[in-house]
Amino acid sequence: MKRLNIAIDGPAGAGKSTVAKLVAQRLGYIYIDTGAMYRAVAWQAINNKIELDSTAIANLARQLELKLAYINGKTEVAVNGQDITEAIRTPEVSRVVAKVSQVPELREIMLKLQRDMAKQGGVVMDGRDIGTHVLPNAEIKIFLTASISERAKRRWQELTAKGYSIDLTELEAEIACRDREDCEREIAPLIAAADAVTVDTTSLSIEATVEKILELCEEK
Ligand code: C5P
Repeated sequence: MKRLNIAIDGPAGAGKSTVAKLVAQRLGYIYIDTGAMYRAVAWQAINNKIELDSTAIANLARQLELKLAYINGKTEVAVNGQDITEAIRTPEVSRVVAKVSQVPELREIMLKLQRDMAKQGGVVMDGRDIGTHVLPNAEIKIFLTASISERAKRRWQELTAKGYSIDLTELEAEIACRDREDCEREIAPLIAAADAVTVDTTSLSIEATVEKILELCEEK
């Protein structure tokens, strides 16, 4: 069977990475988490106490040596040789990443890296602008969404399991704010591609969502 490219976009907490990993596993494809790439830059900015303005972020992005590997169900991320796999998932990084990811030069650098990773086909790539900008010719485009309360609940469970003590209402407000920033930015905003299939996972199980995407692949 032809090796397809599958683009999965959607707001925070819609289940993109969980579903994308499983689809990739079932098809023997490579999973690419583009959010991890933007998170790595945000982490580096925080770590180096860099102002979150366009010039500083663009400079940082130009010097960044980013390594992404999907190993044993986890996207391992290293920046300039340092493993930051866990560090990029903190609430602190989540709070600034949408601002960082608005910088045009950074998006340009990421776009090239992401297209390069997908050029052989057989990738499942998740993010915000994959179907619209990064892989506009992807054979399958999914826009994965869920209600804001369901998405906040999932993120809260994830963070609580990691030992964070977070207020659910505050978390919901933060997620809504990040979604707004992602939707309203000038370059490559979060929006469903015209040819994307929208899947609402509010009351759909992970397995059912995966099956639905695999069915779409079989039709191709
Ligand atoms: O997917 P995740 O929630 O880890 O993404 C973190 C942030 O990275 C998003 O809120 C968004 O600001 C940015 N992002 C992006 N474009 C992508 C993937 C992520 O702007 N393709």
